[in-house]
Formats: sequence, structure tokens, C-alpha cells
Amino acid sequence: MNRGSALRADTATPTVPGLSHARGDFPILARKVHGKPLVYLDNAATTQKPRAVTAAIRRYYETSNANVHRGVHALSDRATQAYEEARGRVARFLNAREDREIVFVRGATEGINLVAQTYGRVHLLEGDEVLVTGMEHHSNIVPWQMACDRAGARLKVAPVLASGELDLAAYGRMLSPRTRLAAVTHVSNALGTVNPVREMIGMAHAQGVPVLVDGAQAAPHTPVDVQALGCDFYVFSGHKLYGPTGIGVLYGKEEHLEAMPPYQGGGDMILRVTFEKTTYNAIPWKFEAGTPNIAGAIGLRAAIDYLDAVGLPAISAHEGELLAYATEEVGRIPGVRIVGTAREKAGILSFVLEGVHPHDIGTILDHEGVAIRAGHHCAMPLMDLLGLPSTARASFGLYNTPAEVDLLAAGIRKAREVFR
Ligand SMILES: Cc1ncc(COP(=O)(O)O)c(C=O)c1O
Repeated sequence: MNRGSALRADTATPTVPGLSHARGDFPILARKVHGKPLVYLDNAATTQKPRAVTAAIRRYYETSNANVHRGVHALSDRATQAYEEARGRVARFLNAREDREIVFVRGATEGINLVAQTYGRVHLLEGDEVLVTGMEHHSNIVPWQMACDRAGARLKVAPVLASGELDLAAYGRMLSPRTRLAAVTHVSNALGTVNPVREMIGMAHAQGVPVLVDGAQAAPHTPVDVQALGCDFYVFSGHKLYGPTGIGVLYGKEEHLEAMPPYQGGGDMILRVTFEKTTYNAIPWKFEAGTPNIAGAIGLRAAIDYLDAVGLPAISAHEGELLAYATEEVGRIPGVRIVGTAREKAGILSFVLEGVHPHDIGTILDHEGVAIRAGHHCAMPLMDLLGLPSTARASFGLYNTPAEVDLLAAGIRKAREVFR
């Protein structure tokens, strides 16, 4: 099917029902950049926020602001209820068995660090191994390196094929009796590769190895069911899911969270403190020391409600069409090479243009109002593996349109002219 021309016939409106009015929900998309309408194609870095999210945060501060879990007054009750309802909403979003399997953190990065510093502290001993893949974001590499260094354990890396797909057979071979955890990305932020995480989890579990899935690039684009996946831990960030910055989620199976020591010490994570001894709170609060990001959790809940109203399956289909169209339109520009050609990809298009540095592409596109990312995408080891210092990356969100893909392609052609 020639998806490109099918989309081209109607470039102003997305082709998937349910998304046609979505652009109007995002006030920032109406602004101009360098005198041109903003074309925001940096959604893998962070997404724009719909009015429903900013309104929920504002409403909270204007009507219900108080600290949670500690007040005896009405506002504190209300804030606590809203915060805990947000937890319940996240649990349903991920199909977690229990609300208490949801820990609020700052983002995917903090979720991974939490597991590395608690689960890792208990389970990693000298000579043990942690298995990651070659396409991890730095946030799913460095915390494990630190944990391995502390324990005298080894970080092992399952290789990535030239297409950007994981070498699944090698991954299977690298699961050893010394592997204490596999930490794998659901979707690669640099290449868009969708990993077969269900299969990867099954392979690991067959050897008794628990699995953490980094869902930072998956949760905003595809429905996630942690029970169906069977993963032990799953993390994502609110800001990549049309929610606010500073809030994210760690899902952990109840039995793991119960057994893990606390992460940070302070208020809220305790039941009783004496100078001699402290007893800790129940999960998930055991992992939430100090005043949490209440407004962030409420904003995240609003983002999830919004995503559900638009419909994740529709979003996924829409982004898939945009990716197919962009792959065709950008891929046929002379000198362009698409980096990452996995069979299963999310809406991320990484590319290089012969003779033009990705930063220069980014700068020229910026002058056209088109925002993309250029760089190593916090995946330096993957770039080393691919033999590239950096790529240019366009990443799509629910509000992007085929007309914006045309502007992206036009901007790349312009960059080619300027640097020829
Ligand atoms: C795959 C992946 N994992 C983890 C992260 C870290 O997310 P955050 O910076 O929101 O913690 C990112 C951010 O780009 C990512 O793309």
C-alpha cells in the first residue's frame, strides 16, 4: 500500500478518526517560531501539554493545595485523595494488579535508579551480572554501571544488529546463572525500534531472571499491560506522555517492592522513628520520602485521561502512518540515510544527510519553525556501535500531521542545498 500518497491527498487532517480535533487542545502549537508556524517534531524528548493537563494543575493549586498524608484539615484530605486517585489511575493505565504497585518518582531515570539502588543493593554480589541491550538510553546504563561497580558485578550488553533490531538469540545466550536482572528498553529513543519485550521477559523468566522494562518511549504510544507482559518492573516519565515534568512512575510487582529496602529516608516513608530505630511505611509510600510532586501526579492523571479519551490504539495507528509517510518522504531525499530500519518501529525517524552535520540540519530546520533533535540522543554506546557521532531525529506525537512531515522534508532539502 502506498500510504504516502494516501496521506498526501488530505494533508491538513490526520487520517485516523479521533485525532482531528486534537491539535486545538495544545495551545503551544498555535505559536510561531522565527516567524513560521511551529512544527514540533521533538516528542521523544518531551511532548507538549494539552489544556486538560495545565487546567488540572491550575485547578489543584487554586482549589485544593495542601500537603498530603499528614493534615487533619479538609484541604489536606482533598489533596491526599486526588494524589491517591492519580495512583489508582496509573495502576489502571498499566493494568497493575494493585494500586500499591505504583510508586511515584521524578521520571523514568529516577525509577531505574530506585531499583538499581534498592533491589540492586540487595541482590547484586561480586561476580553477578546485569544484562542490558546495546540500544539503552544512558539512564538504563549508568545506574546499573554504578550498582555493578559497588558490588563487583558485571554489566553485560546484548548486541544490536545493523537494522537496529536486538540480536534476540544473543540476548538469550547472555542470560546466565549469574544474571540477577535484565534491564531492557521497550522502545529505543534513538532508533524507534520496538523490542519484543514479552518474548524477552519470557526468556529471562525461564532462567529465573527478573526484568525491568524502560517504557519511557513506549507508554505514550501504545497500550501497556504489565500483567500480560509479566515484567517485574516498568518505568515511564509523565512529560513524554503529555503530562508535566518532574513526575514519573515505577511499577513493581508487589512481592519485589515488599522485599526491597527503602530508597531515600525522610518523612512519609516511615511508620515510627526513634533515635535507635525506624520502622518503614507500607508500599508504595516506603519509596516516597518527603513531600511528593502532588501537582505532578494530578497533572499526570489528567494526561492519562486525555490519552484514553483520544485513544491509544488510534494514536498508535496515526503515528504509524506518519512514520511510514516520513520514512518515504525523507528517505527519498538524495544523500539521506535512515538510521534504524527495524520491522517494528514507533514514531521515531533518525537519519543522517551526507555532508551535513546533524546539528546544522537541526539549525536550518529550526529557522523553518521545525523542531527536531540532533545529537547522540543519550545513547552514546549505541552511536559508537553504529559508527556515528550523532543523528538528526524527528519524533511524532498525536498532534502531528502529514503536512508537517512535508515541511520537515522541505527543510531537509533546504539544508542539502545550503551545504552543497
Ligand atoms: C528510552 C528512554 N529511557 C529513559 C529516558 C529518561 O527519561 P527522563 O529523562 O524523563 O527520566 C528517556 C528520555 O529520553 C528515554 O528516551
